[in-house]
Formats: sequence, C-alpha cells, structure tokens
Amino acid sequence: MRQAGRSLPEYLKVREGIPMLESCMRPELVTEITLQPVRRHKVDAAIYFSDIVVPLKAIGLDLDIKPGIGPVVAEPIRTRADLARLRELTPDDVSYVTEAIGMLMGELGATPLIGFAGAPFTLASYLVEGGPSRNHEHTKAMMYGDPELWAELLDRLADITSAFLKVQIEAGASAVQLFDSWVGALAPVDYRRSVLPASAKVFDAIAAYDVPRIHFGVGTGELLGLMGEAGADVVGVDWRVPLDEAARRVGPGKALQGNLDPAVLFAPTAAVETKTREVLDAAAGLEGHIFNLGHGVLPTMDPDSLTRLVEYVHTQTAR
Ligand code: CP3
Repeated sequence: MRQAGRSLPEYLKVREGIPMLESCMRPELVTEITLQPVRRHKVDAAIYFSDIVVPLKAIGLDLDIKPGIGPVVAEPIRTRADLARLRELTPDDVSYVTEAIGMLMGELGATPLIGFAGAPFTLASYLVEGGPSRNHEHTKAMMYGDPELWAELLDRLADITSAFLKVQIEAGASAVQLFDSWVGALAPVDYRRSVLPASAKVFDAIAAYDVPRIHFGVGTGELLGLMGEAGADVVGVDWRVPLDEAARRVGPGKALQGNLDPAVLFAPTAAVETKTREVLDAAAGLEGHIFNLGHGVLPTMDPDSLTRLVEYVHTQTAR
C-alpha cells in the first residue's frame, strides 16, 4: 500500500525519466508496476498503480506530483467560481485505467486487484491548500466559514470519486479502497457534519456492485465509529488503536484492515515478528481482518524486510 514501489529497485528503474502522473497514463507501465510487489513480496492482493489525484488531472485541473513533496495544484480551489473547474468525470477521461486493468486481469490470475480513489476530504485538502498541508488551515477555514460552499465542493468530489471507482470496478477490480488519509485532523463532530455525508455518498454509489469497500484513514482512532457509519465493509486502522478495541469502536458487521506501524519494519527481524504477533493476537477474535501496515511503506525501507513480513504473516495465519 501507498507508494510502496518507491522502496523497490525494479520500480525506480522502470520509472526513470518518466514523471509520476505520466506513468499513471501508460497502461503497460501501470501493469508492470502493479505486478512488481506481487512478484517480489508474494502479497495476497495487488493494488492498482495510480494516485489519488489522477481523476482530478483527468478532468483538466492543472496539478502535478512533485517528488518528495506530493500533489501540488497550480490554482487552489477557494471560491464558488472555482467550483466550475470541477466537472464530472466520464470513463473516456480515464480510458487508460480501463485498458490497464484489462491487461492486469490477464496477468493476475487468482490474485485480486484492489482499485482505489481519494476520499472527498483528503482530495479537498490538496485542492484548497494547493498542496500537502500539516494544519489544513485553508481547508478548515472554508469548512467552518462557508459550510455551503464546502458541502458543494465535497459533493462534487464525491461524484468524481464515485465515477472513478465505478470505472475500476467495471474494468475488473475485485475490491476498492477509499483513502481519507488526512481526515484524522478533524474532531468527530466536524467529521459527522462536514465529511461523513460525502464519503457515505461514495460508498452508496458503488454499493450495488459485489465488491468489498475499504475505508482508510490515519490518526482516526476517535473517528472509527463514524467511519463505520459511512458505509464501508472494511475499516482501516492505524497502529494507535489495538484491533480488538478498534472493533468495539467500529461496531459489528465490518472487517478491519491494518495495523502494524510501518516504522516497525526498521527494527530487527525478531522485533518485527513480536510486533506482528501482537497485531495478529489482537485480531484473533474479529469478524474479519486484512493484515496490512497502518500507513504507507517508506521509500527508505529495506524491501527484504517486507518480503520477510509477508512470509511471517503467511506462516502465522496458515490454516
Ligand atoms: O503503493 C503504490 O504504489 C500504490 C499506488 C498509490 C500511489 N499513491 C502511487 C504513488 C497509492 C495507493 C497512492 C495513494 C495516495 N497518494 C494517497 C493515499 C494513501 C496514503 O498514502 O495516505 C495519498 C495521500 C497520495 C498523495 C501522494 N502522492 C503523496 C503523499 C505522494 C508522495 C510524495 C513523496 O514523494 O513523498 C505521492 C506520490 C506517489 N504516489 C508516488 C507513488 C508511487 C511516489 C512517486 C515517485 O515515484 O516519486
């Protein structure tokens, strides 16, 4: 998950000289990069190689992904007039996605493919701030200061995200993940009022498809119950809340995903195994659990430590 490729020499090699967003539009390259972690680490599922800002680029916004920084938007969205730039997404806007997933279906065999999109709040944060932000000050200024404009912005993003997920499901994705990476910056009362309706709209829009819907966030310990309410089948948990406690917060009828601290992978193998065992023990009685990191692979991570982790989890969970 999450920019995982950057720790792989084979990824860096095929990406050489090709800007990030351009590489997302080349179906052969997307297929190769998506397969790399599956080949090397023998993970149970592939995650489609793209980025959360791809659909925004596809509808014509002037944005780029800068190495070491992240998504940067030339003209931030701050006013009602700016909303006109957020038109609907059609499958033709992202025909390269349909093509790449078609190719992946031929290559992956029984390995499932996870499609994904950015959640309305996290996309709004990039659009309103103009780039990555620690405090989300412009975003919150709009959310608190002009709730109507904010609601309209999130509603448009919900439609774009829903359309983008539908394209991936129709092309063959076997599960989808909605990334609300930065929503942990909000208090529950604000999440309920200002974010939940838009994220729920996305999950509703794809409910009729028979694919599991995963809802991911970081620092969301206090939001887990509300994220469950938003409608996903699986709720992601970072490393700050033990899984048994997270399950109580999320409520019945949902699976959990996570929750090893990615930084644990910098420790010696024995320590990684101890921490992994803790995660698996906390998950033992749950209705469903997808083992994963609580957030992304860091570019400086030793890829071999990831391969060993996958192997360890497989030996510990084999039936
Ligand atoms: O792991 C994968 O390669 C799967 C594909 C994937 C990417 N981005 C490719 C990517 C996924 C699932 C994402 C999601 C994504 N992108 C999120 C949500 C998940 C999360 O990590 O919280 C977010 C917030 C983004 C926005 C974004 N794009 C960031 C923060 C960055 C990193 C900037 C940096 O260099 O530190 C990107 C760039 C990006 N997206 C890269 C990749 C492989 C690195 C590009 C490169 O090779 O330089």
